[in-house]
Amino acid sequence: MPDTTNGTGRHRLLPLLNNGHGGRSAMTCMYRCADQCAHPAPNTSDNEYFGDMVQKAISRRGLLGGAAAALVVGTGAVAGPAAATTRTTAPVATAGRRPPAGDELRIDAPEYGRPIGFQAVTGNTVDSVVVPNGYDWSVTMSWGDPVEQGAPDFDFDNQSVEAQQGQFGYNCDFVAVLPLDRNLNRALLCVNHEYTNENLMFHGWTDAESATEEQLRIAMAAHGFSVVEIERVGDTGEWRPTKRRRNNRRLHTWSEFKLVGPAAGSDLLKTSDDPSGTTVLGTLNNCAGGVTPWGTILSGEENFHQYFGATDDITDATTRERFGRYGIRTSPGTRRGWERVEDRFDVASEPNEPNRYGWVVEIDPYDRTSTPRKLTALGRFKHEGATVTIARDGRVVAYMGDDERFDYIYKFVSKKKYKPGNNKRHRDHNKTLLEDGDLYVARFTGNSPEFPDSPPDDGLFDGTGEWLPLIEDGESKVDGMSVEEVLVFTRLAADKVGPTKMDRPEDIEPHPITGTVYVALTNNNRRTPAEVDEANPRPDNRFGHVISIDEDNGDAAATSFTWSIVILCGDPEDPETYYDGFDKSQVSMISCPDNVAFDPAGRLWLATDGMPGSAGVHDGMFVMPIEGDDKGHLRRFSSVPAGAECCGPTITPDGRTALMAIQHPGELSGATTENRMSTFPYGNQPRPSVVTVWRKTPGNDRPFIGD
Ligand code: FEO
Ligand code: CA
Ligand code: CA
Repeated sequence: MPDTTNGTGRHRLLPLLNNGHGGRSAMTCMYRCADQCAHPAPNTSDNEYFGDMVQKAISRRGLLGGAAAALVVGTGAVAGPAAATTRTTAPVATAGRRPPAGDELRIDAPEYGRPIGFQAVTGNTVDSVVVPNGYDWSVTMSWGDPVEQGAPDFDFDNQSVEAQQGQFGYNCDFVAVLPLDRNLNRALLCVNHEYTNENLMFHGWTDAESATEEQLRIAMAAHGFSVVEIERVGDTGEWRPTKRRRNNRRLHTWSEFKLVGPAAGSDLLKTSDDPSGTTVLGTLNNCAGGVTPWGTILSGEENFHQYFGATDDITDATTRERFGRYGIRTSPGTRRGWERVEDRFDVASEPNEPNRYGWVVEIDPYDRTSTPRKLTALGRFKHEGATVTIARDGRVVAYMGDDERFDYIYKFVSKKKYKPGNNKRHRDHNKTLLEDGDLYVARFTGNSPEFPDSPPDDGLFDGTGEWLPLIEDGESKVDGMSVEEVLVFTRLAADKVGPTKMDRPEDIEPHPITGTVYVALTNNNRRTPAEVDEANPRPDNRFGHVISIDEDNGDAAATSFTWSIVILCGDPEDPETYYDGFDKSQVSMISCPDNVAFDPAGRLWLATDGMPGSAGVHDGMFVMPIEGDDKGHLRRFSSVPAGAECCGPTITPDGRTALMAIQHPGELSGATTENRMSTFPYGNQPRPSVVTVWRKTPGNDRPFIGD
């Protein structure tokens, strides 16, 4: 066997297939984020790395459980502080009405702490979905399937703007299942559509400049969000769309969104089409998200910069600085050609239009007539997503990542308090909670000051942290910036207060029982040895890591916390990897963690984006217990087709079904409709899809997902 240690006797991080794109295919980089890895990271602030941060005394983790709120089954969110130890049940809705409160769900869910028992899937390159023995899967929705009533069936060779506006959009990412009845036999499948890949959508596509206007508009219509009514198939865990589609809804690039919160109506948000600065058409590049305890969806607008072209140079110095920090072009050119069909996508004529994207949007899937809102109080950056918990005093806390190399982790704390229950009055109140509050950005400080010159003396990458205020009590805490400027140009505001530059913060999710917050840091192959710190301890971090955060005193509204690295991803045989202290000979290899979820048994689920490039196998879902004897025993639960990343995921409240989004199947360099690199799911053109996984043998003593 060849020596893989370069004669050092020490295994190095796997030097596999570094394509300069952080693990993704070059085609994915081009379409999803406009090659932002290929140019310098836009955070050029002199905000310090680890070296100048003040070292603080070793601090033990905050007490778990102090604010540990009860699981609200079905939302993945947590209930109010009054329900501190008792598991409660979900908001349940009657179609088209408000979700009633209370212990409504009549389901059997796995008990908390139940061990996992399935046989791990081996990493592979099969162009299909692979699940463990004893499980089955099916496609629930694919790109082009009808969503709105009256929408036509999909016809790849006869696509139209009108059809796509009523059909399931492209590249599904976030997945949530919200109950419509008490037995969880009917539900709302809520999915976003992050971006399009025109090479795989249209025959003969060459580039945006030579595309037809119809093609450009179809792509615009394929972005956005879908709400699809689904039903269980017999007594299995399988889901399928209902025929009646009464609650269904498609939001796309011409759907109306209302800007709310302190920056709504600001001059910075006014355009020729919208002199009020309050109404935006469309939501773009929606990536991960969350479900609130009041049964709405939060969805993050991520790489919105790529949709804007310029017909002339941007010469104003302030605008150039602002555009530069967000990667928006300042010289003539195009990426997607949308400015050819709508002037608002030309920053030379509408320089404020990009300011109207990069927000967290809140959608009420229970009311298809509601106007979705863009929440300016949560700041504007490349939002991966937002997940909500309730603080001890009842205020709502949202955790958010800004997914770019060297960008930051944020937290919002509402001014007003959550009102438990889903009667109309309380729900209407709760739907205003994210419109006003405090905004913070995170600074991580290691407790091993000798690192990186020598390994941490306590054997852990851990330490303390602070939430640095950007907005507090309705006032800006950033010198020289107004409240509106802090919220619209949040990256520039954060640069001024000294947060920690992270390795691409993706999904961030508080555990529904313990309150511990888990952060997926997917990778950063541009961090140099001089730039490492204890929270981002590896240069050229191709594999990513997972950090846990425990708020001080177990209070989600605290302004300080302790933290610890839970997983240093990569080859388990590599001494530079760490799997929460578990015997690494028994774990599955994971890299590029992206989406975070929890099942009713309290286990941590991770979905990956980048394993083909970083590990030579397809992406998938992984599950890991976070306490007990099996703590750290991470196993692969699924793998996805060629070229795809695995997104979602979500586990239904009864623990019987896992749903995952198969995003961009076949998206490999050189792929076209004639040169297919995947034929998932129907043996023809690849179609992004939501897949349901369930156990084949329900009713036995291990009926649940992950058992
Ligand atoms: Fe759209 Fe950060 O992944
Ligand atoms: Ca340490
Ligand atoms: Ca993501």
